[in-house]
Amino acid sequence: MLPQDRQQGELLAIARAYGTPTYVYDGRVVKRQVQALKAALRDVPSFLLYALKANSSPAVVKLLRDLSLGADVVSPGELALARRLDFSPERIVFSANNMTDEEMLHAVREGVLLNIGELTRLEKFGRQCPGAGVSLRINPEFGAGHHEYVVTAGQRSKFGIPVADLEKARAVAAEHGLRVVGLHQHIGSGNLQVQPYVDAIRVLFEKAEDFPEATVLNMGGGIGVSYRPQEPSFDLDQLARVLRENLNGFAERFPGRKVQIWLEPGRFLTAECGVLLVEANTLKKSFGQTFVGTNSGMSQLIRPAIYGAYHGVVNVSNPNGAADRYNIVGNICESSDFFAHDREVSEIREGDILAICDAGAYGMAMASEYNLRPLPSEVFIDLDGRPHLERVRETPDELVDRMLTGRRKLDSN
Ligand code: LLP
Repeated sequence: MLPQDRQQGELLAIARAYGTPTYVYDGRVVKRQVQALKAALRDVPSFLLYALKANSSPAVVKLLRDLSLGADVVSPGELALARRLDFSPERIVFSANNMTDEEMLHAVREGVLLNIGELTRLEKFGRQCPGAGVSLRINPEFGAGHHEYVVTAGQRSKFGIPVADLEKARAVAAEHGLRVVGLHQHIGSGNLQVQPYVDAIRVLFEKAEDFPEATVLNMGGGIGVSYRPQEPSFDLDQLARVLRENLNGFAERFPGRKVQIWLEPGRFLTAECGVLLVEANTLKKSFGQTFVGTNSGMSQLIRPAIYGAYHGVVNVSNPNGAADRYNIVGNICESSDFFAHDREVSEIREGDILAICDAGAYGMAMASEYNLRPLPSEVFIDLDGRPHLERVRETPDELVDRMLTGRRKLDSN
């Protein structure tokens, strides 16, 4: 979704005040997305957990906590952030991949529910925590996503216990007196069609029949947003209908058994709230194309490079210039370093400020210091429309200082 005229003015003012590159997150958009999801699910007994991996900027996470979401965390770092931001343990689910014994026991001590997606880990959990409650991450044997790298179920996927192995999981749980209180799945990310969920949710309900203590049916995240103009959006009402139908059918077959649907959206809540503000600093004609070089790049927004992902681009400092076609590229030494190819944008001049749109999810969260480029600043616009500087870009010298300080610590030990 591209920013409207008034928002373009706000973004330009932020770029002028705090410089670039800067990520800007609009809390009002996050709230709008939460409300849309809650409205669609109003008749579905459900609980929303925010997948922190999409955007772990504390101001964004705190807002989602205040909007009563739980936290889906996948590492000790995300768990620490959720706890430090006062999510209570019963609102947190820990789904680390390849978790170690230490990580597992730490999560248990923190009192959060664990999603376990491997029989071997379930066995270790059973031995070390007999009698505990646990949730199983299942692999329904098919997945779906906006790119093959974000499909997280199916035969080629490392995630989840294949449904064919759930009997074995039941036996392991029984051997150690584990209570399987939940079933979880996450089929993939960036889905704009409901159909893959229709099938996956059916599997979740079918398998719940074999786990009588399971009260949580977690369908994971993956709801997409439309990055491209005119791309149809995900039909939340259809998803809600599918959930209701399954819940009703289940209640008829198992009267008295209470189950609740959990969802773990990341992208849906945060993608559209964010833009990356960059400065066009180098215009170049080459073989009949115009390259616009910027002061940011794939190290700060890697989605185009990895997935060929589309992000809208708006020239917020010259919104009414004559449109032209540009290759908008970054300052990193790789040819995959681009924001947009052959894209129509209003005339770009050196010094213009560009907003790379829909960058609130998996933008800063996946950024690195590749080429020793310091990470961008972050600005959060609160629910009253006031911008707050949340994170300040380091200078290259500060970044290098941090590297050398780490080295000195090692030397002094
Ligand atoms: N739950 C689990 C277990 C997950 O692995 C994920 C995302 C989510 C929830 C949230 O999914 P979402 O609602 O955000 O689609 N870097 C990729 C996306 C990777 C998603 C990984 N797992 C991208 O930029 O498109």
